[in-house]
Amino acid sequence: MNIYAILLFFQKLAICYAGTVRVTVQVNTSMPIQNVGPHFVSVALEAGIFREKRKVKHNFKFRSETMQTLAKGLSPSYIRMGGTSADFLTFSDENVETVRNTSWNLPYEMVEHDAYFNIGKDLNNYTMTASMWDETLQFMKTVGWDLIFDINVLKRENGKWEPSNALMLMKYTISKGYKLAGWELGNEPNDFRKLVGLPITPDTLGQDFVTLKGFLDNYFPNTLLLGPSTTQLSHKKAREYFTDYYIDGRTAVTEDFINPSILDKLAPEIKLGNSILKQKGSKKKIWLGETSSAFGGGAPGLSNAYVAGFMWLDKLGVCAKLGIDVVVRQSFYEGHYAMVDYDTVTPFPDYWLTFAYKNFVGGNVLNVTLDQTKGYVRMYAHCTNTRSGRYEAGSVTFYGMNLMNTTVQIALPKFHDHDLHLYLMEPGDGGLTSGSVKLNGVELSLTETGSLPNIYIPKTVRSPVKIPAQTFMFLVVPSADVSACRTDQIYKSSVP
Ligand SMILES: *[C@@H]1O[C@H](CO)[C@@H](O)[C@H](O)[C@H]1NC(C)=O
Ligand SMILES: *[C@@H]1O[C@H](CO)[C@@H](O)[C@H](O)[C@H]1NC(C)=O
Ligand SMILES: *[C@@H]1O[C@H](CO)[C@@H](O)[C@H](O)[C@H]1NC(C)=O
Ligand SMILES: *[C@@H]1O[C@H](CO)[C@@H](O)[C@H](O)[C@H]1NC(C)=O
Ligand SMILES: *[C@@H]1O[C@H](CO)[C@@H](O)[C@H](O)[C@H]1NC(C)=O
Repeated sequence: MNIYAILLFFQKLAICYAGTVRVTVQVNTSMPIQNVGPHFVSVALEAGIFREKRKVKHNFKFRSETMQTLAKGLSPSYIRMGGTSADFLTFSDENVETVRNTSWNLPYEMVEHDAYFNIGKDLNNYTMTASMWDETLQFMKTVGWDLIFDINVLKRENGKWEPSNALMLMKYTISKGYKLAGWELGNEPNDFRKLVGLPITPDTLGQDFVTLKGFLDNYFPNTLLLGPSTTQLSHKKAREYFTDYYIDGRTAVTEDFINPSILDKLAPEIKLGNSILKQKGSKKKIWLGETSSAFGGGAPGLSNAYVAGFMWLDKLGVCAKLGIDVVVRQSFYEGHYAMVDYDTVTPFPDYWLTFAYKNFVGGNVLNVTLDQTKGYVRMYAHCTNTRSGRYEAGSVTFYGMNLMNTTVQIALPKFHDHDLHLYLMEPGDGGLTSGSVKLNGVELSLTETGSLPNIYIPKTVRSPVKIPAQTFMFLVVPSADVSACRTDQIYKSSVP
């Protein structure tokens, strides 16, 4: 090596050092600031899955072992079945697989996009038979998901919701001994005018909710009734909040997904939502229903790629910290923002991220503060999930991301003399837009025998921890033994 090369080497080294940002992460381990339940991360599924012509095409088969395995990986979870299609569904307790052949003249010009991703645009009535319902509830029981079902509010008579079909469904459900976590009435009622030329005023809808509540009190006394209350509907801001999205999927580019100022948009909206509820004297907690990274069906090639994970993980961190009760991911299946592939049922990176989140992250939320970084490094901390038995009560899980183009060093002064378990999630081939994700260098996928992989294969590190450019991670402190995490707080569920 000649002197010139040596000089060059040191020069590069110097640049490297100068470029390495060090971020100090402080955490208050004496008291949790929030507590979220095991259903904190939940998923949505379009009721349109029951449409006959879709049923034939799609691969969401309730009896599929792969589907059941993947669903179990995210359990416990609420599964919210609804969407636009919910308001075109009729239940039939006769087990005939006949679907009404209706050629309904649509009241507005329907734009025919790729049918896969615009299932919500199908405004034809269809039937969910008892056998479909049986299969659905059997699946939920097998995989440990708790169903919230959206009832058709467009069944109307004399300006009121007409409940006979819903009652048929409820009675059938009781006769079979099925358990549901909750019910919902109608999907995005503020859109009805546009959708079917049938505006339903907030007052009328409020009456309809009262009617449904009466039935539920009788038939399903311990279930949730979700839905936009009249107060929320009459507040534009609150309403906007409840259908929160960051960016338009049709115009999103990769940079949007790693832009701190876009990620920063969420917290103020949640704070606004919280303050509105507080003003109204409501003790109800907020759910973030049907949430994903981008509206308009998601961003093709982005919402289901590695890069979508930054927004998803950041959203979970912000929501937990601000006391959101449940975050419902739109969607488990179908759409660019789906968690599993439409054709192959292969999980996308966000599935694995959610799987990891559910494994590593527990309910008690700790208060984390960073010294700087202008939002390019984002960190959250909860008590570790001890359900798997891999970690003991008292452990802490940090999670977060480095949005910068360079490696950062994350210093945890509080735990500087502890062994830390790093679970680094990097993109598979193809960088940020990769359709796969690696955990500590190993690409995540179902095993050859079709079961979920063991993700408890940490890399043991010490503070400061190097986090490569544009990656996200979980960092467990197994020996933290902090008081905020020593005893599991009893989760105060929103279930009445
Ligand atoms: C940690 O949080 C508790 C409870 O909110 C508070 O009393 C205490 O001062 C905090 N400790 C530090 C170091 O900020
Ligand atoms: C629906 O009805 C129309 C007219 O009666 C018929 O031409 C069409 O084949 C039917 N479609 C199905 C799927 O049965
Ligand atoms: C679809 O169902 C709704 C009630 O749910 C009814 O008002 C409407 O007329 C039906 N449309 C057709 C084309 O049958
Ligand atoms: C979190 O800690 C910061 C800094 O110590 C403090 O300003 C903030 O009020 C704390 N948040 C909560 C919810 O306790
Ligand atoms: C990362 O690099 C890209 C292209 O080299 C640049 O456009 C972007 O602004 C950089 N991002 C950060 C956070 O430095």
